[in-house]
Amino acid sequence: MPEAKNIYRPLKATLETVIDESPLIKTLVLRPEKEFSFDTGQFIELTLNGYGEAPFTPSSSPFVKDKLEVTIMKAGHVTEKFHQLTPGAVLGIRGPYGRGYPVYNMYDKEVVIVGGGCGLAPIRSLLYHLIEWKDRIKRVVLCYGSKTPADCIYKPLFRELNSIPKFEAHRAVNVADETWDETEGVVTVLLDKVNINVPDSVAVVCGPPVMMKFATQKLLSMGFPEDRIYLSMEKNMSCGFGKCGHCMMGEFFVCKDGPVFSYDEIRHLPDIWR
Ligand SMILES: Cc1cc2nc3c(=O)[nH]c(=O)nc-3n(C[C@H](O)[C@H](O)[C@H](O)COP(=O)(O)OP(=O)(O)OC[C@H]3O[C@@H](n4cnc5c(N)ncnc54)[C@H](O)[C@@H]3O)c2cc1C
Ligand code: FES
Repeated sequence: MPEAKNIYRPLKATLETVIDESPLIKTLVLRPEKEFSFDTGQFIELTLNGYGEAPFTPSSSPFVKDKLEVTIMKAGHVTEKFHQLTPGAVLGIRGPYGRGYPVYNMYDKEVVIVGGGCGLAPIRSLLYHLIEWKDRIKRVVLCYGSKTPADCIYKPLFRELNSIPKFEAHRAVNVADETWDETEGVVTVLLDKVNINVPDSVAVVCGPPVMMKFATQKLLSMGFPEDRIYLSMEKNMSCGFGKCGHCMMGEFFVCKDGPVFSYDEIRHLPDIWR
């Protein structure tokens, strides 16, 4: 009898480089032992033998199959261990899982992206996708917020985006210092500064729950329809593919039905911002 496929068995991946993004956030550049494909916005389970695993959304381009970048904020036990790894370490990847960003709905549209903190990780992958597709979209406006200038991640990405026609990237920090000459304030302040043609746009929001809540309210007040605001939801997860029930949010398995939802799909649920 052929051996049954073990759906929990991870694919081996070697850590090539560690990039310090901010005091709390690092990007791990991984080389999987064979090509690994994912859709932008899908997530993986990243395993460290003997310590455990945790879900992360790849922050690299979905068009690159031989390398995978994962941007990790130190939050607790497993993420702290990932931060201590050095090049050469061997990890495991399960997935990809879930429903990513509906990039086809961004065809011929302006795409307004609101990100906060480590929520820029999945957004960076989406941006790489949209850069490849720049002939098919009208415009991309990124508004990113973090606590302080030191907490801003992917600093070179902003210069790169602002040099690409149709792309513009703006940043705000809650608390500025003498090094900062961009916006001071919460990320939604940036939405007042950019000129958005709402009827021709879709919006994407990813970040800490409180930021997602206020960004969504702001987008609704600007006239965005509920079905054109896409949110990346994070719930505690275990299996990643609809078996264990850890990630239930109302009638949805966030791991399978999400993690990307349009606001109209989930607005009826209580406590979506927790
Ligand atoms: C679909 C998805 C994609 C994610 N993508 C990223 C990413 O790209 N980068 C990143 O830094 N983080 C991401 N996260 C969050 C990341 O999985 C958690 O920070 C991580 O699991 C915490 O593990 P820990 O053992 O270090 O923390 P713990 O010691 O277990 O807990 C520390 C804190 O993290 C929370 N937490 C624990 N497990 C999870 C979990 N599975 N999901 C959400 N919160 C959790 C706990 O409630 C607690 O507040 C994602 C989560 C999901 C569900
Ligand atoms: S994580 Fe197991 S059902 Fe979603």
